[in-house]
Parts: sequence; C-alpha cells; structure tokens
Amino acid sequence: MRTIIVNHFGGPEALEQAELPTPEPGPTQVRVRITSIGLNHADLMGRAGRYKASTGEPPFVPGIESGGVIEAVGAGVDDSRIGERIILGPNVPRAIDGAHGGTYRTHLIAEASIALPAPDALPNEQLGAVWLAYLTAWGCLAWKDKLQAGQVVGIPAASSSVGLAAAQVVKALGGTAIGMTSSPAKADAIHALVTARFDHLVITHDRDADGNRVMRPWHRELKTITEGRGVDVFFDPVASGEYLSAEVRALARGGRIYTYGLLGEPGVVDLSPMIIKRVSLHGWVLDEIVSAGEEAWRPACEAILARFSDSTFKQHIARAYALGDVQQAHEDMQRGEHIGKLVLVP
Ligand SMILES: NC(=O)c1ccc[n+]([C@@H]2O[C@H](COP(=O)([O-])OP(=O)(O)OC[C@H]3O[C@@H](n4cnc5c(N)ncnc54)[C@H](OP(=O)(O)O)[C@@H]3O)[C@@H](O)[C@H]2O)c1
Repeated sequence: MRTIIVNHFGGPEALEQAELPTPEPGPTQVRVRITSIGLNHADLMGRAGRYKASTGEPPFVPGIESGGVIEAVGAGVDDSRIGERIILGPNVPRAIDGAHGGTYRTHLIAEASIALPAPDALPNEQLGAVWLAYLTAWGCLAWKDKLQAGQVVGIPAASSSVGLAAAQVVKALGGTAIGMTSSPAKADAIHALVTARFDHLVITHDRDADGNRVMRPWHRELKTITEGRGVDVFFDPVASGEYLSAEVRALARGGRIYTYGLLGEPGVVDLSPMIIKRVSLHGWVLDEIVSAGEEAWRPACEAILARFSDSTFKQHIARAYALGDVQQAHEDMQRGEHIGKLVLVP
C-alpha cells in the first residue's frame, strides 16, 4: 500500500510518499481500500510539529478521517461486508495498524464495529470527509448546547467546511444561521453554493487604503439582523481577540460562545458585557463527544448519516487531490482561498 509519511516536522515538503506492506485484518477487523481522506487543519499543525499530542514524534502517517470500501475481513467478521462502502467512525485510534498512525494511505485496518455503513447519497470521494465537519458542529450545537428551535447562531469562517456544515445543522435544528465571512468575494461564492444554508451572511473585513485587512464593526450588523436582541450562540473557530470582543457585544442575554479553533491571533478580549448579559464562554473539541463513549457518539453519527440519506445535509467538496499531490493540497489549505472541504482521493 502507499502512504504519506512525515519523517521530520516541517512544511508541505515534509510529506513524503512511501510503500509499506498491505496489512491483513485481525479476527474482528476489516481492511478498507480508502477512497476519501478529509484534510484538516490538525493535519497541517501535526506536520509542522504543533500538535504532538496527536502525532507523537516522527515518523508518522498524518490524517484523522477517512472512508472507503471494505476489501477483506477477519475470521470473525461477516464476509458479506466485503464490498460495503463505509465511513470510519470518529473514534479511529491514532495508531491504526501499529506504529504508523493516521489515515493518509491507500489501505487501512480498522475494527469492524467502527466501519459505519455509508448512505447511498454520499459518493466515494466524500466518505472520508464527514465527521470533522458535521460531528464537530452537531456535537457542539445539538448534543452539548441543546440548541432550541428559533435560536440564532453566529458562524464565523462561514466558508470553512465546519462553518458550512454548522449552518446545515442549525437549520436542521430549527434555528437561524448567520454566517460571517472575510470578504465580499467569499460572500458571493458562498451565496452561489447550493449547499450553503445561511439565512444571512455578514462580511467581517474591509481593505484600507494600503490594502491591509481591517475588521468592520460587524457586531452592529448582527444586532440589526436580530432586531436588537442579539445572537444566542457563536460557534467560532477564529477566536482572535477582536472576534471574541465583537461576539461578546453581539450576544443576547444568556448567550453562549463556543470556540473550537485557533485560526486567529490571540489578543485582548473585552469581557465586560458578559456580566450584565450573563453570557458564557466554552471551549469545544470533537473529542468531547467521542470520549463520552459510544452511547454519545453513535446516535449523533446516525442522526448525521440519516440527514445525508434524506439530503438534508450535503457536503461541498472544494477540490479532490490524488494522494501524490498531498503537498499541493496542504499548500492550498494553508492559503485558505477554498470554500468547503479539501479531500485526498487515493
Ligand atoms: N475543535 C474541534 O474538534 C475541531 C474539529 C474540526 C475543525 N476544527 C478547527 O476548525 C477550524 C476550521 O477548520 P476547517 O477544516 O473547516 O477549515 P477550512 O475549511 O480550511 O476554513 C478556513 C477558513 O477560516 C476562515 N478564517 C477566518 N479567520 C482566519 C484566519 N485568521 N486564518 C485562516 N482562516 C481564517 C476563512 O474563512 P472566511 O474567509 O469565510 O472567514 C478560511 O477560509 C480549524 O481551526 C480547525 O482546526 C476544530
């Protein structure tokens, strides 16, 4: 099988191709021919040595999500599963088949119990691109926050794969989704997407006379859209000082902010409006629902897959790359001009 290995931390050039023996499944396992590997910022951080809790020291295979087709089963697994299209559960162990770690590979071994049947509506190239977007959003908004119908959710990084998924989740829960995106060009591109479900889009930045990005007072626009009431929940991967300050100002009484990424620069946050409005600030990580156990993550995954089956949820793949083009894929993800999900298609 072919894999991508990081032998030393670094830039995209640290992603090297390698051949390894194709592994055989143990009694309770399946071997999956991977058709889709979702790219994530965590992969970029891991490659650069900024996420050692996930990767450990080199050498390691990057990647945290994937799916494909079962091509071999262990002695204790029903062989009618051969040929089944599956999505690997969100609890894929980091050392999938020994010391080499993640999902950037053509084949992998997994426990049969976490090879979840894929809905017909999901094409093969999307099988590895579901959980990091949809379970991150569903887990936070439906499972943790228990968002109520009629509530308003602010979604910074609207063009991101998680942001697009979050809007679909909010609409499925009966809420109002307000996306925030960095430029008019991105807003136009989002509007043109049939998979984008935002009720409103707000532009967060302008260019000054020298061409520098400057933040607009977008919290005022949110107040206007909500007729002065404010936003109930922010689901925010930027978490810069200026974003958090604006969000605290735009929150409704009793509102919540969930930060789940660190795309922005840390900075000073004016928390003074929190007291009078009794609002709260939480960190969110997908691992929270995964480590809460199978009784937490499995029903959430099933709820998500049911919504793919009836086309309530639809993924937008910005671009698919061959495994050998992984360096280009990481460069593109770093540049951040894409809208939606980037995938490797081995
Ligand atoms: N906590 C968790 O469990 C979890 C799970 C999955 C992902 N994440 C995190 O979620 C974030 C989004 O992931 P993704 O895969 O959806 O990303 P992505 O598709 O690559 O989206 C990145 C987008 O974020 C926006 N953005 C705003 N400020 C930015 C900044 N300072 N630098 C770069 N981008 C900025 C931009 O969108 P606009 O132009 O529209 O503003 C950009 O296109 C990442 O930080 C990732 O690590 C966390």
